[in-house]
Amino acid sequence: MIEKDTMCLLDFYVHESVQRRGLGLDLFKSALKEEGLTPTEIAYDRPSPKLKPFLGKHFGLHNCLDQPNRFMVFKEHFEGAAKRSKQQAG
Ligand SMILES: CC(C)(COP(=O)(O)OP(=O)(O)OC[C@H]1O[C@@H](n2cnc3c(N)ncnc32)[C@H](O)[C@@H]1OP(=O)(O)O)[C@@H](O)C(=O)NCCC(=O)NCCS
Repeated sequence: MIEKDTMCLLDFYVHESVQRRGLGLDLFKSALKEEGLTPTEIAYDRPSPKLKPFLGKHFGLHNCLDQPNRFMVFKEHFEGAAKRSKQQAG
């Protein structure tokens, strides 16, 4: 079992009048850069029907794992955590 603190994305919003023009990607990339994270390292709070295609289109992420607590992560989220845990254990 691996316990980890995970940064979460929530309340990510671009006004309807300017959606699908690349603003969401710019915002998301900027937040990731600021935090030094990749899209698979974070969890997504109650992902909307627009967020899943957004992540699929821009980052090739399709294998999402919906969690009982309504957060969504991707398979790679656990793979990265397991690798780091092994490295830390030596
Ligand atoms: C999700 C969101 C932030 C993306 O912002 P954006 O500026 O539209 O994103 P981009 O222009 O960078 O990317 C566009 C892609 O996002 C996805 N997308 C955006 N609007 C969509 C819609 N109405 N239906 C399906 N997919 C959509 C598609 O993959 C789209 O690519 P396409 O136009 O080629 O199909 C925006 O749609 C939004 O604010 N939605 C409402 C709130 C929300 O769902 N927030 C997510 C948190 S759960």
